[in-house]
Amino acid sequence: MTAVLGVPDQINLDYAATAPCAQAAADAVAELLPWYGSVHRGAGALSRRCTLAYERAREAVGDFVGARPDDHVIFTRNTTDALNLLARALPAGTPVVTFGAEHHANLLPWPVGSVRLPVPDCPGAAIRSVDAALRELDRPALVAVTGASNVTGERWPIANLATIARRHGARIAVDAAQLAPHAPIDIAALGVDYVALSGHKLYAPFGAGVLAGRGDWLDAAPPYLAGGGATTHVGAATHDVRWAAGPARHEAGTPNLLGAVALAAVCTALDFEALHEREQVLLHRLRSGLADIPGVAELRMFAPDADRVGIVSFVVAGRDSAEVAAELARDHNIGVRDGLFCAHPLARRLIAEAAARAGRRDLPPTALRASIGLGTSPSDVDALLGALDRRRGLRLVA
Ligand SMILES: Cc1ncc(COP(=O)(O)O)c(C=O)c1O
Repeated sequence: MTAVLGVPDQINLDYAATAPCAQAAADAVAELLPWYGSVHRGAGALSRRCTLAYERAREAVGDFVGARPDDHVIFTRNTTDALNLLARALPAGTPVVTFGAEHHANLLPWPVGSVRLPVPDCPGAAIRSVDAALRELDRPALVAVTGASNVTGERWPIANLATIARRHGARIAVDAAQLAPHAPIDIAALGVDYVALSGHKLYAPFGAGVLAGRGDWLDAAPPYLAGGGATTHVGAATHDVRWAAGPARHEAGTPNLLGAVALAAVCTALDFEALHEREQVLLHRLRSGLADIPGVAELRMFAPDADRVGIVSFVVAGRDSAEVAAELARDHNIGVRDGLFCAHPLARRLIAEAAARAGRRDLPPTALRASIGLGTSPSDVDALLGALDRRRGLRLVA
């Protein structure tokens, strides 16, 4: 399996925010850099090579997400950008059904009239809740859900939700920002209509993201960005313009070639089945270690044994999460995230639920998150557990 770049004495347990760069991505960028030139804009050898590399990258990413032959694969800046693009392409009056458990990127772009369902306590409840909401709406809608929570790592029942959506004549978009880096994803096999993901969470630097899925809404929508590359004809009169169909319609301006190529290299080089297996072992080590530390409470929506990817959020009773994160960095060279993880409604609710479960009143208002991936070793996990334990022994009254 390909390695990731990093700094030897720094323990990075913050993959869910931005993953380190895969060697395969760095190699692909290094190989292309001497040829660096314009994309879709030049007849010279450099430009032709870069255009080819960009379109090959599109194909590789399409294969990676299991895109159907007529799906569009559009390069964006990141998942936020991809979901905002989809929001702009919604046919007028289409309500969006989502959950209060989503990352802000999948809560905030949707139009007025959209429905935010309560956080479910099990995957079955999510399915029932979408079913009821679509029945009540009784008109074509878009269901927008995460593949895996960025707060808890818990996986959502995407294939079942897709079946329910289809039954009601609705479409489904999956925010795969946290699922794609940890497990194989297949649009066609899952029966979903759109996926959005971020390259920087998928071991590719340079900020490319993707929206992949059904072309009809995208081709009917006004261009997300208006400008060069998105048109087939521009006349002398102000509004005499014909917009391109396909990905070009929404990719005006010079694209992020290196981002696309780096992302495609990862999509081609990494074995996500194998990575998933390996991560599950590390995740078990991390979760059971945390469960053994008195005063540490894990955040979760579903049952403790629900399927999840390598992300764990937790609180240390009686300790401010920002202070714990700062101490982990300063004293142990361990990088974790603290806060509410751009999922404020969910994170606040889960902290309150964790307090109720533990019968404690001294849980802090924000949480810590440890997330693992390709470069994580058992000793990285043990370092975090040891640091938290030592801190408890030295400073905390559990
Ligand atoms: C589940 C989820 N969706 C969307 C996003 C937004 O990703 P980006 O910041 O790359 O747009 C994130 C980022 O953390 C995320 O975890």
